[in-house]
Amino acid sequence: MVKSMARGLTKELEGVEKVRRGRIMRYGDAVKYLMGLPGASGYGSKSTGEEVTEGVSLSCNLTAIITGATSGIGAETARVLAKRGVKLVIPARDIKRAVEVKKIILRESPQAEIIIMEMDLSSFDSIQTFCSNFISLGLPLNILINNAGKYNQRLDLSGDKFEMTFATNYLGHYLLTELLLEKMVQTASTTGIEGRIINLSSVVHSWVGRGGFQFCNMLNPKEYNGTLVYAQSKLANILHAKEIARQLRERKVKVTANAVHPGIVNTGIIRDYKGLITDLTFFLVSRLLKSIPQGASTTCYAALSSQMIGVSGRYLADCNDRICSNLAEDEKEAQKLWEETHALIQKRLVSQSYCA
Ligand SMILES: NC(=O)c1ccc[n+]([C@@H]2O[C@H](COP(=O)([O-])OP(=O)(O)OC[C@H]3O[C@@H](n4cnc5c(N)ncnc54)[C@H](OP(=O)(O)O)[C@@H]3O)[C@@H](O)[C@H]2O)c1
Repeated sequence: MVKSMARGLTKELEGVEKVRRGRIMRYGDAVKYLMGLPGASGYGSKSTGEEVTEGVSLSCNLTAIITGATSGIGAETARVLAKRGVKLVIPARDIKRAVEVKKIILRESPQAEIIIMEMDLSSFDSIQTFCSNFISLGLPLNILINNAGKYNQRLDLSGDKFEMTFATNYLGHYLLTELLLEKMVQTASTTGIEGRIINLSSVVHSWVGRGGFQFCNMLNPKEYNGTLVYAQSKLANILHAKEIARQLRERKVKVTANAVHPGIVNTGIIRDYKGLITDLTFFLVSRLLKSIPQGASTTCYAALSSQMIGVSGRYLADCNDRICSNLAEDEKEAQKLWEETHALIQKRLVSQSYCA
């Protein structure tokens, strides 16, 4: 894991990106990252969630659901959005932690409206229950932030018997988005305000090659490699955003979908790895990492910035457009993944066998 993080960081720093017509090294991006120089949006790697949403005029009367808001980037995103007047719904598997986060946010923004509800993203049943409870509240839904994430060192299976990281990071968010999409479309059409879906991905998505992205194998890997599984789930998060963006564009509805890489941030996602070596590595590279407020900036930008109006199907990092891997750009792959997931979920909700 430490090696993987170092690899991710190196990649981030070098600004190595694949370009559709070949691979090039974008040293300009590395310099920008290190110096925090702004990109075309006016923001860069050192911008924080608060800075990129300062003065936004969109946020009153908006309702957002943020998954994984009990810690790290999600908790900071929730704090910033609440400060900007967005009503929050926080689905959490750990209600106690969610209540703590709510208390902290209310201390800073006493006017904030925050609803906590139970949901475990690794369980289809739990997601369905959350969605029907949310719909029964009769609230609008403008923003869906698919932020929760997990990294498992060892193979673990979800209650639905799928590999836990893929189940949580991708399958759970897929189902959540499916069950909430019509509410978002309806909200956008009645209010005239654009709906926004944001999937948290990662630069590590680019470690996955075509041969390493087989749906049935990702559901139940024959050999387990925690880093590969995490990277696959993050690639799936981008393909998912791109495919829904395409479908929404085709339907001509006012809802966008984008994927973001938050940067490398020392959060609970490496909690399985807490130990001397991990702590030492983070200490040594700490000046190169983003802080949590910086890590939340691209999500906050995608959720609230007026510069993002009408922008859909993109992959962003440091609050700017970024090119993702060729595989992540592959529309056919995105469509195939969507169809396979759709079929899986349909079958799962009816019977119990898929990829036997
Ligand atoms: N940190 C980084 O360097 C980095 C880099 C690239 C991408 N990302 C992405 O950024 C996102 C946020 O990560 P983070 O760094 O802020 O990690 P984090 O501090 O570990 O937060 C992860 C959140 O996900 C929630 N979660 C995990 N499994 C869940 C489940 N089954 N049901 C519901 N909630 C669940 C956790 O809830 P509990 O409190 O219940 O555990 C927690 O609130 C993730 O998608 C991650 O992949 C992070």
